[in-house]
Amino acid sequence: MASLSDLAVLSVYRRPNMTSTPDLGPVGGSAPDLGPVGGSAPDLGPVGGILLDTSKPLKMRFRALFTLKAVGGREAVEWMARAFADESALLKHEVAYCLGQLQSPLALEVLTGVLADRQGQQPIVRHEAAEALANIGGAEARGWLERYMEDPQEEVRETCELAVAKLKLGGVQVENRWGSEDPAPPSEEREVGRLRAALLDQGLPLFDRYRAMFALRNLGCAASIAALAAGLACSSALFRHEIAFVLGQAASPLGAEALLATLRDEGENPMVRHEAAEALGDIPGVALEEEMARYLGESVDPVVRESCVIALDMADYNSSQEFQYADGLLPPPSST
Ligand SMILES: [Fe+2]
Ligand SMILES: [Fe+2]
Repeated sequence: MASLSDLAVLSVYRRPNMTSTPDLGPVGGSAPDLGPVGGSAPDLGPVGGILLDTSKPLKMRFRALFTLKAVGGREAVEWMARAFADESALLKHEVAYCLGQLQSPLALEVLTGVLADRQGQQPIVRHEAAEALANIGGAEARGWLERYMEDPQEEVRETCELAVAKLKLGGVQVENRWGSEDPAPPSEEREVGRLRAALLDQGLPLFDRYRAMFALRNLGCAASIAALAAGLACSSALFRHEIAFVLGQAASPLGAEALLATLRDEGENPMVRHEAAEALGDIPGVALEEEMARYLGESVDPVVRESCVIALDMADYNSSQEFQYADGLLPPPSST
């Protein structure tokens, strides 16, 4: 088990929002390697066990996943890879997301297997695996992504198109304040009106519109949040889900109304409603309890239902004094 000094290192980073937990260590080609901390690396068995334990609450398993992501390295990747046998599409897509953020070539094999598994893995999971492969990069990942540019699933096909466009651009690494590796670098344009026009222009290549989206997120002003909110009406479900995601990163209360409308829209793609729910969990001041309670019933799509459970946990965390969302290696709180 981790020593207290290990835990001190893991706790340095208070998670600004769940989808953007900063990695501990450098990224770019290899999994972050914490190296021995306080003499030994943490034992990941207990936390990996929680990730795979279907009897544990989903919110606990998510925290275990983000703990593994924060630690990185071979053992963490191996535990995460085993989670693709799970029933929860939401959990599996988040595992793929985390593997992509680690950018570890160790994850290539499992991610290509997930992308190729049309029968066994849901489109949301295969989409996230494709995006993760683009983050890892290299000839092998690119070859797989090119192969699935004609996938029958629109979300997967569009993700592979974006991924190949990103790799063609040559792996431009643009840091952002959330520490996330994004599916496209931000546009160099800084004028909100022009960025908004590009975001909403359905005639432009999706990759260019993604670039406008990330530039708007980075600006984070009222006009750019309004532009992003308007983008939630665009025709591509993949695009809408990413807009909801970046509105969560921006965490501006100005984005809350549009996200609520997206979550409430039963005709909306569950992948988009999922990102809207989790984004709302990151925005301060949103009255979530009552809203999320509407989506916890068995008749609700599992991706939406489970997202609401996670959003409530994220909101709990954001309003608490807890130091670390990725708390799988922390001792349980004392009852005294
Ligand atoms: Fe996604
Ligand atoms: Fe997601």
